Amino acid sequence: MAMNVQDFQKMKDEGRKISMITCYDYSSARAVADSNIDCILVGDSLAMTMHGYPTTLSATTAMMALHTAAVARGAPAKFIIADLPFLSYRKGLKDAMDSVHELMSAGAHAVKLEGVRGHAEIVRHIVDSGVPVMGHLGLTPQSVHVLGGMKVQARTNAALKVLTSQARELEDAGCFAIVLECVPAQGARKITDLIKIPTIGIGAGIHVSGQVLVYQDMLGLNPGFKPKFLRVYASAFEVIRTALNAYDRDVKSGAFPSESESYHDPESVDRRVTKRTGHGADNGRGARITLASEMNQ
Ligand code: KIV
Repeated sequence: MAMNVQDFQKMKDEGRKISMITCYDYSSARAVADSNIDCILVGDSLAMTMHGYPTTLSATTAMMALHTAAVARGAPAKFIIADLPFLSYRKGLKDAMDSVHELMSAGAHAVKLEGVRGHAEIVRHIVDSGVPVMGHLGLTPQSVHVLGGMKVQARTNAALKVLTSQARELEDAGCFAIVLECVPAQGARKITDLIKIPTIGIGAGIHVSGQVLVYQDMLGLNPGFKPKFLRVYASAFEVIRTALNAYDRDVKSGAFPSESESYHDPESVDRRVTKRTGHGADNGRGARITLASEMNQ
């Protein structure tokens, strides 16, 4: 594994930024595995990005475990943090530990949970059980209905004071890092300077220990979604739509498949064409490529 839980503190102490990306499925995980990104968050935002729900409240432990397992198969060398979903850590210790067990068995190396009020003891118990816990403060989407929407948090001194004491509480409970979501940059800086453990920001400015973005958002797979904090690094939605339309055109015009993309009876004279133009058998990119090479026979 490229990174372990100790490296988070080490990177903050050495002034090296931590890069984190959300990821929810096997094929995306393979791309992340092949990148320099430090760690993966299987966020409960998957309820929205992968399942089309309006909030993260619809994520369940079973859903989180299924996606975590797929990500773990695609990126076996990356440090994977999985979100404990809505209410899973608010129904008592046994339920919380059952959820933690399920996510860790699915391949997570740590879990993340939102807030601290009323569950600091559960955080401590999870950590004491040998499971690293990442906290999440500021805009906590599982509390969207209490917050009155997806709003920037801690905009007053009083609110920042509360947030700071919550960060301290999470640190005392044994968290190895804290996500700060949608917090003014000056506040996030204060918290990052005050606590020892690293902070990972999303909409929290530059003075944090690392950054996290949602995979679909930063790749431009979520057109129309452009909050102030988001930098879009690609136009993947457009790339995919263009490819789909090219395929549609080729099917309808008869340009696909070509001779070289068709199988031939071994006795047929056409076999020579296949042999001449058949694809290379091995370009070394995983099980599906091996399968493809078998399908080239
Ligand atoms: O669920 C998620 O994707 C998250 C990140 C936005 C931090 O919690």
